[in-house]
Amino acid sequence: MSLITKAPRGTLDKLPNEIHKYQTVETSARQIAEVYGFKEIRTPVFEHTELFKRSVGDTTDIVQKEMYTFDDKKGRSLTLKPEGTAGAARSAIENGLFNDALPLKLYYFTNCYRYEAPQSGRYREFSQFGVEVFGADKPACDVQLLALASDLFKKLGISKYTLEINSIGCPECRKTYQDALKKYYSQFKQTLCGDCHERLERNPMRLLDCKNPNCSEYKTAAPLILEYNCETCADYFNNVKQYLTALEISYIVNPKIVRGLDYYTNTVFEFISPTGLVFGGGGRYNGLIEELGGNPMTGAGFALGIERVISVMEGENAQFNEPNTPDIYIAGLGEEAMLFALQLSHKLCKNGVSAQTDLTGRSVKAQMRYADKIGAKFSMVIGDNELQTGKAMLKNMITKEAEEIDINNFDYKR
Ligand code: HAM
Repeated sequence: MSLITKAPRGTLDKLPNEIHKYQTVETSARQIAEVYGFKEIRTPVFEHTELFKRSVGDTTDIVQKEMYTFDDKKGRSLTLKPEGTAGAARSAIENGLFNDALPLKLYYFTNCYRYEAPQSGRYREFSQFGVEVFGADKPACDVQLLALASDLFKKLGISKYTLEINSIGCPECRKTYQDALKKYYSQFKQTLCGDCHERLERNPMRLLDCKNPNCSEYKTAAPLILEYNCETCADYFNNVKQYLTALEISYIVNPKIVRGLDYYTNTVFEFISPTGLVFGGGGRYNGLIEELGGNPMTGAGFALGIERVISVMEGENAQFNEPNTPDIYIAGLGEEAMLFALQLSHKLCKNGVSAQTDLTGRSVKAQMRYADKIGAKFSMVIGDNELQTGKAMLKNMITKEAEEIDINNFDYKR
């Protein structure tokens, strides 16, 4: 097939016959985010590359290997967003959103771009629904985010998933942990891959993300960050767990979760399907705003991969909202009747009734075949006779029952 008619590797066309699945997730996510007091934010699809280096971290796989980075015509380095948090944080700083009422609660839908090896559930262009809370530093905030997610999954019919949580502590306890990791991995220095050599020096925690089979084996016996939490961080995490229990949100503690992005502090979590697909993740990021040049401001949030949420729903045979089908198809026989059909469908559409009519000049038989194919709920045929009498038969396309209606006063109230 020619390149022109082939989508780039790792991208996904979301076709009309499955778009209702995306709409189901988006409608529910929007509704629940608004109920929880979040406001939508839309930020550019590309940002200055430096933003992601500073937030996601320049020793992460995302920044080192996966970003779509290019120079624009003025030589500025720009990057297609690999995730949504950095853009929301940048925009909040730039637009003074922290001067308004705090906590600031934002949600977004965004396409993200990561140059990863495509496989089932892993794309180079994918979409995220994300929520972020700025200016709330109590465990209640982390737990409310998880409550929101739990409500959303319930609404979408996702029940067989696991919420895994961990605490990666504050920068202070992280230091001790990084030292312990460095010591542990140094034993294997000779056999570590090139990237891990750099990680060992610059950011030992990223050693745990290495996908090289040899390096990832060392992860099994690596020190666990939870054991290095200071007292304050351990108390914080205990509160998170207690509140989750109080809100009847099930979780398991997985001390191995560290997340692949550098900005996290304290609580981190992931949502995992029965097949092991991580369909969402997030956590607290208390240092991010300062790192980006803003005044100190705490933050926490999560994002779901919408394609993955859909595949988890499919795995559970969850219900999607019905795809939209026309309410009525009005067939016309002859020029005058076709014009009448066009006028009637216009009148109905103006009133919010999805009324379709012929635009191609085909026979009534072909028009009815089309009505059937597009799943019209009702149909009627207008010809000379109907125009003269002002009456037509309205046919239910499923039951095939028909009733006579007045075509000059027809308003489709069923
Ligand atoms: P993340 O874990 O990198 O976190 O991505 C969140 C979700 O996006 C993943 O759980 C997954 O469902 C989806 N995802 C990631 N990469 C791909 C891919 N290549 N193909 C399909 N889906 C993918 C973040 O992005 C953080 N910004 C989340 C966050 C928000 N943390 C705090 N606030």
